[in-house]
Amino acid sequence: MVAENTELAKFSLDNVSPALEKAYKEIEDLFTISPEVLKTITAHFITELQKGLDQEANIPMIPGWVLDFPTGQETGDYLAIDLGGTNLRVVLVTLKGNSDFSFTHSKYSLPATMRTADADDLWDFIADSLEKFIKEKYPGGCASDLPLGFTFSYPASQDAINMGVLQRWTKGFDIHNVEGHDVVPMLQKALKARSLPIEVVALINDTTGTLVASMYSDPETKMGLIFGTGCNGAYYDFVENVHKLSGDLPTDIPSGTPMAINCEYGAFDNERVVLPLTKYDFKIDEESPRPGQQAYEKMIAGYYLGEILRLILVDFYKAGLIFAGQDDSKLQQVFIMDTSVPSRIEEEEAGNTTVIESIFKDELNISTTAAERAIIRRLCILIGTRAARLSVCGVAAIAQKMGYKSGHCAADGSVFNKYPGFQRRAAVALSDIFGWSCKLEDNPIKLTAAEDGSGVGAAVIAALTEKRLKAGLSVGKKHIVSK
Ligand code: BGC
Repeated sequence: MVAENTELAKFSLDNVSPALEKAYKEIEDLFTISPEVLKTITAHFITELQKGLDQEANIPMIPGWVLDFPTGQETGDYLAIDLGGTNLRVVLVTLKGNSDFSFTHSKYSLPATMRTADADDLWDFIADSLEKFIKEKYPGGCASDLPLGFTFSYPASQDAINMGVLQRWTKGFDIHNVEGHDVVPMLQKALKARSLPIEVVALINDTTGTLVASMYSDPETKMGLIFGTGCNGAYYDFVENVHKLSGDLPTDIPSGTPMAINCEYGAFDNERVVLPLTKYDFKIDEESPRPGQQAYEKMIAGYYLGEILRLILVDFYKAGLIFAGQDDSKLQQVFIMDTSVPSRIEEEEAGNTTVIESIFKDELNISTTAAERAIIRRLCILIGTRAARLSVCGVAAIAQKMGYKSGHCAADGSVFNKYPGFQRRAAVALSDIFGWSCKLEDNPIKLTAAEDGSGVGAAVIAALTEKRLKAGLSVGKKHIVSK
């Protein structure tokens, strides 16, 4: 916590009016998460993770049917696609063995209307993009069908590796007629309509891809984590610990077999038992297309941090504490500030004001005073620090549940990679939870930068799946004919 207070102290409240200072201090109290609170949240998290393995529960704990650890010796050419929030990424990966790989990729921007489009628009867009990619990479045509790993970064229930029924959209997505359906046949149908020589062999969550890609090159890897538009984690458990699968496992998946689990822990504490939710978190939830869902994610993920800042500023404006007499029409627009706003603000060195001034002037049509800027900078620190500190409760919970004393937690995503201070703040929070007193860089459990999960991870998972299928082994529940 000391580091956090030092950060705030760089932005003096000397010229701030007493009324604004009082309102700000209330926010500071609400957004400051003590080590004790982190420990309480983590303890509840562990119970919830186990509940999700035992039965259908709040945290879905989805068995991902990746039933082997990668060895680094997997080889072959694989296609991978990753449907992100703004792009579809198509990757052609060559696994070379010896933990080595190469890849080539293209990005196709999702049309702005896609978030609320219809299912057919989505599958047509993906199939059209794949068609372009294949034509470019294989101008003479493909000699044989290409195996495809489909990274689908939403909660999808899997009875086998090559299927996934979307439980619900997250991260503001609301494409109609997909929830409740298996996404693989829908994509395969669109591919067939274009006679594309592609076979979807595995459906993969981005966290599972990150886990497997990082294990391919770093055997110390214990988890795959995304801190980005959304947040989530994956790890390997053993099938006998996934009690909700008992009775469903084929005999060729005996006790002791590893199973990648896509936790979907963005849904942690949807019952709102332990999270220190503020009125801004409740407001974000109400504004979202799926109220009541993803309670934890909505406090910490990149899709929401800018909006949290906006909501606080709107409150201060309405109380006559900031931006007096200025046009607030832009500030009132929901989601006008994405997370790049607090991120760019935090990036600017204390003492400089060019970036913060121009963000407010150019993007919101608002001139700021020095006192207002000090408050905004402090709010960004509070929002960013709260996000980083809460974010590692899921990591600490998995580590404690599995008894990990050390290891690498491979992380990816825009918040992890780009949000200033996130990595340091997260490391401080892990120390707070575990009570470590070493230097941050010596923390026994560390967040490390991941290998490319949606390309390399999807390819390695496709390779592991093909190998199992060739050996006649199952990749799903016993009633699924997957051999
Ligand atoms: C999704 C997860 C995903 C995470 C990070 C969440 O909103 O439900 O499936 O792993 O975002 O992309």
